[in-house]
Amino acid sequence: MPLLRQLRQRLFLLVGLALACLVMASLVLIGNEPSKPVEWHHVSAEQKQQVHKYVHKVLEGECRLRGSRQSLLSLLPASSRAMQPFLWRDKVLPDNLFQYPPPFGFRGLEGKVEDLLDQLPAESESQSEESGERCRRCVVVGNGGILKGLELGPLIDRFDTIIRLNSGPLGEFVADVGNRTSFRMSYPEGTPIRWVDRDPHTLFVAVVYKSVDLSWISAMVNKLAVSLWDWLFFWQKVPKEIPLDPHRFRLLNPLVIKETALDLLKYPTPRPLLWGWDQNVPTLGVSALNLASLLCDEVSLAGFGYNLPHQNVPLHYYDHQPIGVMQKQTMHNVDTETRLLQSLVKGHTITDLTGGIYCSFCSS
Ligand SMILES: *[C@@H]1O[C@H](CO)[C@@H](O)[C@H](O)[C@H]1NC(C)=O
Repeated sequence: MPLLRQLRQRLFLLVGLALACLVMASLVLIGNEPSKPVEWHHVSAEQKQQVHKYVHKVLEGECRLRGSRQSLLSLLPASSRAMQPFLWRDKVLPDNLFQYPPPFGFRGLEGKVEDLLDQLPAESESQSEESGERCRRCVVVGNGGILKGLELGPLIDRFDTIIRLNSGPLGEFVADVGNRTSFRMSYPEGTPIRWVDRDPHTLFVAVVYKSVDLSWISAMVNKLAVSLWDWLFFWQKVPKEIPLDPHRFRLLNPLVIKETALDLLKYPTPRPLLWGWDQNVPTLGVSALNLASLLCDEVSLAGFGYNLPHQNVPLHYYDHQPIGVMQKQTMHNVDTETRLLQSLVKGHTITDLTGGIYCSFCSS
């Protein structure tokens, strides 16, 4: 029996390897398509003033305790009331955690998950960020080019909790994006190769898209090298170290992603696909908004939106890629996500500080 299991595992690994080669080949092909770099558009003083005025209004306006989550719950099944943002070794794992494979669950990875949780802090040892009574405002800082030139940094830094995504850099961009980071949420390939956060309070939220991601997280927590075998499964260079103490790591509950996909975006239940993606994996940004609703009372977005009126806004605040790149990828369904976010902003569940999703402060 163990031999059979081993053989089966080997077979899976071989198939995985073949798929990884295909992915790499297709990435090289996609990468070769020439795309014209975007010239940086100018943000007018008026535009800047309008956005700043709105962010002040949000920061100084009413804060409803559990406001964003309560409002999201009206779209969610009753079981969502008990959703936990992170997994802990001293807490019972949710029953349906092993229903689907990553990123929607940990099917087949029971042992690996328990091993990893043993290396992370227990919930009882972690100093909780949320302090009971006080109403907390979160901002999820997306990596959108719309942030560029708006000089929102100092206002973003005034939020209680600041969630940043993947490699979203600070450094030369702090005037636009701020310098505090409460949570950096990322999967291995998206994580900064060289760590960017100087904030001593930063927590790293590890997101698992595939089983090898668990091995990588474990290597990062324990300051060990990633095995050569594991390297083969990453589609892009991954960092060799994250300079944070083990107690600063959190493992995202994959049910947060499942809930985002199935209940908020109403995607069909995940089915095994031999090749490619079903456009049923939410972008990290929408999953982060769902996580934020569990960590804070009021949730705001900044730097979100791909369908912008100015065609010369770059995709990211830190590069010159055109926005069209996002429409060409097949992993995420950008249009469905945009519709969900628009309805959440219009329904006052969340606020959109930069107006790229739905502009509640624009004149026209
Ligand atoms: C962010 O910048 C402000 C103003 O320059 C500074 O006082 C603060 O220490 C910085 N915080 C971090 C986490 O770097």
